[in-house]
This record gives sequence, structure tokens and C-alpha cells, in this order.
Amino acid sequence: MEEKILEIKNCALSEIAKITSVKDLEEVKNRYLSRSSELNNLKKGLKDVAPELRPKIGALTNEVSKEIESLINKKSEEFYALELNKKLEKEKIDLTLPSTYEPMGHVHPLTKTINEIVEIFELLGFSLVENQYSPEVETEKYNFDLLNVPKEHPARDVQDTYFSKIAPNVVLRSQTSNSQVRQMLNSKPPIKVISPGRVYRSESVSARKNNLFHQIEGLYVDKNVKFSDLKGVLNEFIRLYFGSSRPTRFRNSFFPFTEPSAEVDVQCIMCQGKGCPTCSGTGWLEILGSGMVDPNVLSAVGIDPEVYSGFAFGMGVERLTMLKYAVDDIRLFFNNDVRFLNQF
Ligand code: DAH
Repeated sequence: MEEKILEIKNCALSEIAKITSVKDLEEVKNRYLSRSSELNNLKKGLKDVAPELRPKIGALTNEVSKEIESLINKKSEEFYALELNKKLEKEKIDLTLPSTYEPMGHVHPLTKTINEIVEIFELLGFSLVENQYSPEVETEKYNFDLLNVPKEHPARDVQDTYFSKIAPNVVLRSQTSNSQVRQMLNSKPPIKVISPGRVYRSESVSARKNNLFHQIEGLYVDKNVKFSDLKGVLNEFIRLYFGSSRPTRFRNSFFPFTEPSAEVDVQCIMCQGKGCPTCSGTGWLEILGSGMVDPNVLSAVGIDPEVYSGFAFGMGVERLTMLKYAVDDIRLFFNNDVRFLNQF
């Protein structure tokens, strides 16, 4: 019996030494270590061995199967390392190769301007208004009536405003000022908000005018708001947006919803104030309309003009972008030509 065991051991050792593949390994493992292996059968037959020999034979069988098992495990580790090396060799990464080109877009220059302006006004204590107070499809009530725009005002004319056929009095808003009245109807002073968005006007398209453009509306209503607050806020905005050196002027104007009203001009960036076609020879370019909220507007939205006062302004996003980057044609913002857009 002892001889038989040693013979199995020798056979196993020489077979293990000859193993060259994982398949061979599995086969040898199965042959020598499985339940139905010769060694296992010998273990099962121990009960027929003379009792005085049993411990010795038992120990030997165990020792041999342990030895075979450890040799097979060693072989298996060798194969694993070999396979891994082969795989690593095949999948080697060359970090010096240039990466594949993934074209990545970026925000549109108008969006960039809007984000920048919103950030400046947030620094000055204004909050961004939710879209729900600033719809693009609007009724005349919010676009004109509540803003003190008389029925006969030329801005209502179909020349300027797009009227919709879906229902009477429905327009594409011609100004972001609708957000002012909606905000005042939906909240109580103090109100200090800005609201950017698209507006529409029936213009003939040219280098200076497009029938879709963007505005940013600002509104501040509280007790004791003065014209000097308006000037202070707008001057600070201009300083932060253009840098400190841009000459600016406030000019008397008229808007139905503000009293007094002012337009703000910035020195023309194309000619530095000398006068050129872009500024129609004046040396100045208008960037916004503004003024103290008309008491009629406050009353119309249920705010007592004896207690509260406020200022408002509306600025053109395209104009401000053109001025900052010296863009001479508004249509470039809407053509989506990457040669233009890539420059921002
Ligand atoms: N809504 C005016 C426009 O589109 C601009 C404007 C002027 C807005 C005065 C205001 C304001 O809020 O107070 O021409």
C-alpha cells in the first residue's frame, strides 16, 4: 500500500513538471485530487488496512495529497502571473500618443454677457427673477397697460410689436419691463431684482438691429429710493462691466413708466468718442434706459407711491457685448458661424 502511494506521488510529480497549459493543470488537478481520484479511493479503503498500519498509511496519504495540492497551486500561480504579463504586454498604453479630438462647445457670447451682468448685479444686492415672472409670450396688459403705456402709444403699433393671432391682446413681449409689473404684483417691497430675457420687435434686420434681441431689466422698490441710488448703481455697474476708464453720460429722456427718465450712453468703443458710422457721428452709444418708477405704475400694481419709491432700468445685451468686444454687426450673434463664436 505504501508503495502504491509513493508510486502515485511520483507519477503526480512528473506530470506536474510537464504541465504547459491551464487545461493540463485542471486535468492533473482533477486526476489526483478529486473525490474519485486514486488517492481518495485509497483513503476510503483505509478501513480494510490492518489497524496497526492505519495511522502510518493514513498520515502518508494525507502528506502526499497535501504535497500534490501545494505543487499544483504553485503551478497555478505561475500560470496566472504568466497570463497577466502576456495581457499587460498586449494592452500596453502609450501615454505619449495624442488624444482623440473631441470638439467642445462653450457658452454663446450673449449668454456670457448675461452671466457676467447678472453676477455684477448680484454683487450689488439684486436677485435673479424666476422665468415665471418674465414670460416671452405676454398680454398687452403686462407689456403695456400696467406700465402706463397709453393705448395710442406708437410702440404698440404693429410696426414695432408682434401681435399673436392665438387670442386678442397677446403679444411677443417687446421689452423685459413686463417682469417689473409681474414681480411687483407677486411680492411686496423691498424688491431688488434683475430679469434677463429675449424680446421681439418687428424691425427690418440690419447691422444694428435684429427682430429678436436680449434685455436685462432691473427694479429696486423700497422706502426712500432716490435718483442718486440709481446713478450710483448704474455707475458701479459700468465700472465693473467695462473697467474704470470708460466715459459715461446720463441723458434726459422719456419712458411712460418712469419719471424722471434717463438714458445712459457710453463712449463709442470704435472711435473713442471721435465720431464714426457706428455711433452715427456722435461719439456715444446708448446702452440702457432708466428712471424712477412712475407713481402711476406703483399704484397700478397696488404699491402706495406715497410710501414707496423705486428705480428701474433696461439694458440691451447685444449692444453691451458689441461695445465690449468691438463687434460691428448684431447679426453675427445669430448666424452661428463658428469662426465668429470661436473668438469668445
Ligand atoms: N423697456 C425700455 C425699452 O425697451 C427700456 C427701459 C427704460 C427699461 C426705462 C426700464 C426703464 O426699466 O426704467 O426701451
